[in-house]
Amino acid sequence: MLLKTPVIEEWSPNGPRAEEDLRELSAVLHAAVHAGASVSFVLPFSLDDAYTFWRAKVLPGVLDRSRVVLVARIGDEIIGTVQLILDTPANQKHRAEVAKLLVHPKARRRGIARALMQAIEDVARRERRTLITLDTRTGDLAEPLYLSMGYVKVGIIPRYAVDPEGRKLEGTTILYKELQ
Ligand SMILES: CC(C)(COP(=O)(O)OP(=O)(O)OC[C@H]1O[C@@H](n2cnc3c(N)ncnc32)[C@H](O)[C@@H]1OP(=O)(O)O)[C@@H](O)C(=O)NCCC(=O)NCCS
Repeated sequence: MLLKTPVIEEWSPNGPRAEEDLRELSAVLHAAVHAGASVSFVLPFSLDDAYTFWRAKVLPGVLDRSRVVLVARIGDEIIGTVQLILDTPANQKHRAEVAKLLVHPKARRRGIARALMQAIEDVARRERRTLITLDTRTGDLAEPLYLSMGYVKVGIIPRYAVDPEGRKLEGTTILYKELQ
């Protein structure tokens, strides 16, 4: 199944599979955190915790259109996702923030993250956003991906967040890209 090419699409909370999709998005987040991803959460992190994030934090934003969620599917199964946060301050309506780029550990190194990032840039253009900002744990695998896509590294904030195991503070790298 994983040899198939994923389809990338904007996630709709109104579709017939919405509840199932929330469960699958939770499974992707849960698996990523348990594989070491530093994406706001600290272990122990249950599937229910992941579901609460999607339902309570993400879903309202999708419903009020302050957030766009893209999903990568193989068949019906979601194996990757990324978000664009649009509710920027009144003086930054040309800017959007990319968040929660996640690919299930079983589907990595097949270009899915790169495809998700290309698609989210298209969404930003559609939303008339010309500046994308994001941050990522310093030294993470995502950093070379962003750099290869033309993101500019602004710098590192040291000791920004605790690692998923809650043992040590780690830095975050701030990046941006101006869209053409
Ligand atoms: C980072 C992540 C999204 C990459 O997903 P992916 O689908 O495996 O990435 P891709 O196959 O599209 O690879 C894109 C680029 O990322 C980098 N990369 C990804 N995995 C890598 C690895 N294991 N080793 C080295 N580079 C890697 C490479 O630059 C790669 O480009 P290349 O294939 O041309 O060398 C995935 O590892 C993940 O979900 N990590 C946990 C969550 C996370 O850290 N998200 C970023 C938060 S901002």
